[in-house]
Amino acid sequence: MRCHLPFRSWSPSLSLVALVGAAALLSGCERPPPHTEQTGYRGTGMVQVSNPRLDAAKLAANQAPPALPPASADGPKAGTVYQNVKVLGDLSVGEFTRTMLAMSQWVAPQQGCGYCHNLQNLADDSLYTKRVARRMLQMTEHINVDWKPHVGATGVTCYTCHRGNHIPANVWFTAAPRNYPGVTGGASGEQALQDQPSPSVDYSSLPYDPFTPYLLDSQSIRAAGLMATTGKLQPMLQTEKTYGLMVHMAGALGVNCTYCHNTRNFATWQNSNPARVTAWYGIRMARELNNDYLDSLAGTFPPHRLGPTGDVAKVNCLTCHQGVNKPLYGAQMAKDYPALLTVSAPAGEAPASAPMSAPMSAPAPAASGATAAAGPAPVTLAQAATK
Ligand code: HEC
Ligand code: HEC
Ligand code: HEC
Ligand code: HEC
Repeated sequence: MRCHLPFRSWSPSLSLVALVGAAALLSGCERPPPHTEQTGYRGTGMVQVSNPRLDAAKLAANQAPPALPPASADGPKAGTVYQNVKVLGDLSVGEFTRTMLAMSQWVAPQQGCGYCHNLQNLADDSLYTKRVARRMLQMTEHINVDWKPHVGATGVTCYTCHRGNHIPANVWFTAAPRNYPGVTGGASGEQALQDQPSPSVDYSSLPYDPFTPYLLDSQSIRAAGLMATTGKLQPMLQTEKTYGLMVHMAGALGVNCTYCHNTRNFATWQNSNPARVTAWYGIRMARELNNDYLDSLAGTFPPHRLGPTGDVAKVNCLTCHQGVNKPLYGAQMAKDYPALLTVSAPAGEAPASAPMSAPMSAPAPAASGATAAAGPAPVTLAQAATK
């Protein structure tokens, strides 16, 4: 993925072309020696290859800021002292104020309180940023409480995605169709949104929006092969989109395919690494956040924040991970912010999104090494058995 051989026009001097070609080829490569580490069962080729020099830069760019000094949990509750508190009402006034300070640093370090508040009246909801932030608070609590199979004890804060920016640096919109009559894809010119190098798929020719089908819709993440259920061949486009998503996932975590898969058989859960199970939950989590929290804010955001088809910016693996297998190298920021660790019942209204039971009850794939029978991902396993 990292080396690109440029196509060059024919020249009479073959040796010169070879020399230039070799130089161009090598200039696209990373300087050796890389570091390799075994990540799976011996003899299965499950190794993680990394570059120590690039790792140092990544480490520096992914540090969690220090926690704010703790506040007292005693005293009157924010819900009784303030007028318009719908999510954080159970916090002490001290902890509430500390949370406001932290949110300012995480999302609007330059503007501070005024980015979300009418400073004449802090209870006023007229700024859209405040209404969005309230929903973001609910989303962050929901991730930490209900998506433990993915985020574990590490959890997330606003900083995991925002890193001091109003809009997280890595978001995606549904791509508008690009039609080029007569180029590829037949008379209509529909290109299946591919063959257009894009960072979303690491500049490969794969479909450059692998997110709408999988992280918004729930299309089937499968490579071509006989479908056990119907005996029919899976469509090739689905395979290409699946690879598009996988290239995104590997790049977003800064890992190779073998971090999760035993590449002898990509489909089987047997001998996959436990990280693949975590990733399986991650796909479902991102999908749910996009549908239930972000897309539903479309009417709240001003038009200049919306994408080409009028949708809200959404999250993928890169939004949190930013090139690292665990966001911020697994720094446990969330544990220092009680506001983000419980799902608060909004005062005076039904929960905007009832805490989900789905994540826990969804059919999880079998963990590494488990037998096929134990794995409740029937299609995958049945399919694997046919290969
Ligand atoms: C990223 C947006 C954001 C920033 C920045 C922010 N706030 Fe808030 N603030 C909110 C939200 C959202 C609520 C409502 C919380 C709820 O409903 O539980 C709120 C509510 C409040 C309230 C309660 C007002 C009332 O009477 O209802 C106070 C006081 C407050 N914030 C103070 C501050 C201070 C002081 C700062 C700066 C240090 C600040 N906020 C920065 C989003 C923000
Ligand atoms: C899982 C990732 C994620 C987390 C965690 C998260 N956000 Fe966001 N936030 C987003 C995305 C994505 C957008 C952009 C939506 C758009 O522009 O259409 C956004 C937008 C916002 C905006 C609007 C900013 C603007 O200028 O339009 C505010 C305010 C905000 N978030 C506050 C917060 C607060 C406060 C927290 C923590 C309580 C938080 N966010 C946690 C992903 C996240
Ligand atoms: C972070 C873990 C992770 C990484 C890295 C990863 N995958 Fe996957 N892969 C998964 C998960 C999880 C699934 C199953 C998705 C589902 O069913 O929702 C999957 C499914 C697949 C499938 C579909 C198998 C089938 O059932 O037909 C293929 C093919 C695949 N991956 C190839 C790759 C390739 C190629 C790479 C490297 C570019 C890669 N994967 C990197 C986790 C990963
Ligand atoms: C809301 C933020 C967020 C999003 C979005 C997210 N992750 Fe994660 N992910 C985390 C956190 C936090 C951890 C650390 C969990 C822990 O420490 O146990 C993690 C851990 C993981 C791990 C385990 C790594 C290891 O070395 O054990 C994998 C694999 C993973 N994520 C894959 C994905 C994939 C694939 C996606 C996109 C489909 C994704 N994640 C989206 C927050 C996120």
